[in-house]
Amino acid sequence: MAAKNSFYLTTPIYYVNDAPHIGHAYTTVAGDVLTRWHRAKGEQVWFLTGTDEHGEKVMNAAEKNGVTPQAWCDRLVEEAWKPVWKDLNIANDDFIRTTEVRHESRVQRFLQGLKDAGHIYLAKYEGPYCIGCEEFKLPGDLEEGKCKVHGRPVETLSEENWFFKLSAFVPALIERYTKHPESCEPTSARNEVLSFLHGEVKDLSISRSTFNWGIPVPWDTEQVIYVWFDALLNYATAIGLGDEPGSEGAKKFEEFWPANVHLVGKDILRFHAVIWPAMLMAAGLPVPEKIFAHGWLLVGGEKMSKSKLTGIAPKDITDHFGVDAFRYYFLRAIPFGTDGSFSWEDMGARYTSELANDFGNLASRITAMIEKYSGGTVPAVAHDAGLAKALTDAVEVADKSMLALDFQGGIGAIMEFCKKVNGYVTEKEPWAIAKDESRTVELNEVLYNTIESVRALAVLLHPVMPATCEILWQSIGADTAIGAIADQRISGISTWGQLPEGSAVTKGAVLFPRLEEAK
Ligand code: MSP
Repeated sequence: MAAKNSFYLTTPIYYVNDAPHIGHAYTTVAGDVLTRWHRAKGEQVWFLTGTDEHGEKVMNAAEKNGVTPQAWCDRLVEEAWKPVWKDLNIANDDFIRTTEVRHESRVQRFLQGLKDAGHIYLAKYEGPYCIGCEEFKLPGDLEEGKCKVHGRPVETLSEENWFFKLSAFVPALIERYTKHPESCEPTSARNEVLSFLHGEVKDLSISRSTFNWGIPVPWDTEQVIYVWFDALLNYATAIGLGDEPGSEGAKKFEEFWPANVHLVGKDILRFHAVIWPAMLMAAGLPVPEKIFAHGWLLVGGEKMSKSKLTGIAPKDITDHFGVDAFRYYFLRAIPFGTDGSFSWEDMGARYTSELANDFGNLASRITAMIEKYSGGTVPAVAHDAGLAKALTDAVEVADKSMLALDFQGGIGAIMEFCKKVNGYVTEKEPWAIAKDESRTVELNEVLYNTIESVRALAVLLHPVMPATCEILWQSIGADTAIGAIADQRISGISTWGQLPEGSAVTKGAVLFPRLEEAK
C-alpha cells in the first residue's frame, strides 16, 4: 500500500500524432491543480504525465511527414508537448515516454511474468479495429461500418495474436466497483463500467503482427505489444515496476503504488477501469485507488479534436487571456465529470467579472489604499469575526471539494469568500473613513482585515493560478514576512493574523488587465 502521506496522480499519456489541444490541456491542468493542492496539504506528491508513442496512429503520422516514428516522436515531444506544459506552468515530477528503455524493459518483464503465470495464450483475432482509438471494436461500437468516435471506417484485422485472459477477472472487477464505489467516479462512469462488465467481456488481443512500431513481445519478436497494453503500464513502469527489491525503483514503487488517482477522459474509461486493473490483478499487484473520468470539451456540440479540425491550441487562448485565466476557467466553468462547451464569450465574461473585477480589483484596491493611507506598510493586526468565520468556512468547503475533484465547487467557495471581502470593503468605505483623522484606528482595522483576507486568498488560489498568486504574495510583503507561498499549508490558511504589522506592501502590476489591454 502507498505510504499514508503520499499522493500519486497520473494523467493519460498523450498520443504524439499531433500537437496538444485544449482538451489535452484540460486533463493536465486539472492534474496540476489537484497535485498542487495536495502538496499544500503537506503530502508527499508524485505527479506523472507523458507521451504514448507506439502504435499505428503515431506510425502513420510519422510516415505522412516523411520521417521515422522515433524522429517524429522526438520532435513532437521536444517542440510541442513539453513546451506547452511548461507554458501552462505544469509542475509534473516526471515525464514518461513509452519509447524510453526504462519503460520498454519493464513492460517486457511484466508481460513475460503474465505469460509464465498462464494468463497469456495464442489465438486468432478477427474483427474490426479503429486506428483513431487504437481499439479492437465490438459491433455495437460501429455505425454503418464507421467508428462512432472518429466517424472513420475501421480496419478489418485477421491475425494470429497473443491474448490476455481478461474475462477471468470480470467477477473480481465487479466486486471491486460494487464494494468500493469511490474507486471509479463519477457515478455515471462507474455505472457504465459495471454495465460493460455485466455484458459479454471477451479476452483481449495484446499483440499485433502486421507492423513493427511497438515493443517486441519478448518470446515472439515477430509481434509487437498492443499499444494500449504497453501504454497503461506507464503508470507503473515510471515508478520502478518489478525492479529488484532494495533498488531505487523498488523503493519508489513501494512509496507510491497504488496510484491514488488516474485522471482520464471518459472516452478512455474502459481501458483504465477494466483492462488496467485486470492486468494488475493478474500480476498480483494492488489496483489504483481511483479512476476519475472527466467529460469532453465540446466545440459545436461535438468532442473537440484535431482529427475533426476543431482542435484549439492552448496558446490561442493564453495569448488573449493569460495562462492563469486559462487554468482557472475550465475548472471553474465546467463541473468535472460532465461535458462542457467552450466559448470565447463565456470565458471573456468570467474573466472580467470574477478575475479582473472580483479578485484583481480587490488586490489592487487594498495595495493602493495601504500605500496611500498607511505609508505602504501593513497596519497593526486587527480581527473581524465575520471575515474570519467566512474564511474558515471557505477553507473547509474548498478543501473537501478539491479532494473530491469537485474543482468547480472548490474554486466557487474561494470566490465566494473573495466576494465577501469585496462586500466588506464596500460597506466599510475606508476612503470615507480616511477623510476623518479621528478615525485612524478604524481605518487601520479595515485595511488590516482586508489585506489579511487577501493573504488567505493568495494561498487558496495558488494551486489554480500559481504565477498570479506568487506576484500578489510578493506585493503584500508576505514572502519576507511569512515565507514562500509554496510552503503555506491548507490547514494553516484560516489562522487569522498572520501578516505582521509593518510588512512592506507595494502596488504591483495589474493582475488581470482589461481584455482590450491584455497581451
Ligand atoms: N494515448 C491514449 C491514452 C493512454 S493512457 C495510458 C489517448 N491519448 S489521447 O491523446 O488521444 O487523449 C488523451 C486524453 O485527452 C484523454 O483523456 C482524452 O479524453 C483527452 N481529450 C482529448 N480530447 C478531448 C476533449 N475534446 N475534451 C476533453 N478531453 C479530451 O487516448
